[in-house]
Amino acid sequence: MSSKVILTGDRPTGRLHIGHYVGSLRGRVEIQNAMDYKDMFVFIADAQALTDNFDNPEKVRQNIIEVALDYLSVGLDPNKITIFVQSMIPELTELAFYYMNLVTVARLQRNPTVKSEIQMRGFSKADRAEGKEQGTGSMKQGVVNPVQKQDASEGCAGHGEDNQPVFGSGLPVGFFTYPISQAADITAFKATTVPAGEDQKPMIEQTVEIVRKFNSIYGQTLVEPDILLPSNSACLRLPGTDGKAKMSKSLGNCIYLSESAEEVNKKVMGMYTDPLHISINDPGHIEGNTVFTYLDAFCRQEHFGLYLPEYASLDELKAHYQRGGLGDVKIKKFLGKILNQELEPIRERRKEFEKDIPEVYNMLQKGSRKAREVAASTMDDVRRAMKINYFEDKQLIAEQAERFKQQKH
Ligand code: TRP
Repeated sequence: MSSKVILTGDRPTGRLHIGHYVGSLRGRVEIQNAMDYKDMFVFIADAQALTDNFDNPEKVRQNIIEVALDYLSVGLDPNKITIFVQSMIPELTELAFYYMNLVTVARLQRNPTVKSEIQMRGFSKADRAEGKEQGTGSMKQGVVNPVQKQDASEGCAGHGEDNQPVFGSGLPVGFFTYPISQAADITAFKATTVPAGEDQKPMIEQTVEIVRKFNSIYGQTLVEPDILLPSNSACLRLPGTDGKAKMSKSLGNCIYLSESAEEVNKKVMGMYTDPLHISINDPGHIEGNTVFTYLDAFCRQEHFGLYLPEYASLDELKAHYQRGGLGDVKIKKFLGKILNQELEPIRERRKEFEKDIPEVYNMLQKGSRKAREVAASTMDDVRRAMKINYFEDKQLIAEQAERFKQQKH
């Protein structure tokens, strides 16, 4: 049997969208159904979501069920894999605490994902985390932040585009250290393979470093994970419908998995294409044209026979667009049909699962129980390796008993 352990998760901050789908969910279902693994875990990363939503627990609480329903509706199957909720596994926080000893502040500051996320969330500005109404503002004045000082001496490293220090005084420790917590998520299950998007690469690299350091200090205990990226480059990071680099709820440029067919069509019709392709006969551009990027991610050969028989392949369609004479409406209608064909069974399954919400929670609870057993067993290994298993360490107790007996009083 395969010795692979697959693990991945998502933050419950909103419903999942088609970017999640092509970037990870679709691949997960394929992996699940190929059954070439020892174990597979998919989890809802609520504790991680709280690192930047600590002031809005209601959002996290409401989105656990949304993500669980999205999982079930894409075809993740709790009879084959373990689906769980991160915060229900206290061993993960325990592990993260010990890993903190193995990571330097400077190393965390170099994590590019953390850096860009801090800027996106406005954590570099002092008033975000502290909250003006809490009256902690006076603390900020005159305090020299050694981290900032060091950055300043290194030129503009650690500063954002607006030249605000990225690691400014508004950055919560919890958010800053979430890569360490993510390393705990992965290693607690001895995961070998993490299917994830490209943005997670720095997290996996950091996890590998922690594993190596742990094993070299405490002895071979943890397993080094590998990231598994989607093979189709259009799927690595699906742009938003407005052509912006990332689909994100705050930009309002997402197509959600649970969206109705009408809504999908409407969003597709409003998609960003080639601003220079004004009349049908103008030659059009494919690069940066969101409709073609989505076609690269979703279109299969069979779709031409079904919805656009006058073309034999995506290459032929692209060539016509580049030559001129092919209108945006036609390619958008084609894309809308493809998306809806893919999303229809997902929507149907969601409707079924929505009928029994308590059962979805039961499923999560069962999964969390099983996950906890696995994490607890790793935690036992870790305690043994780190020599913090005093009560079970019969040798330690016997040796000390002997030594104290021989002491002259
Ligand atoms: N950081 C991931 C995201 O934002 C979620 C996540 C948390 C994760 N822990 C993980 C992904 C462990 C893979 C493995 O989507």
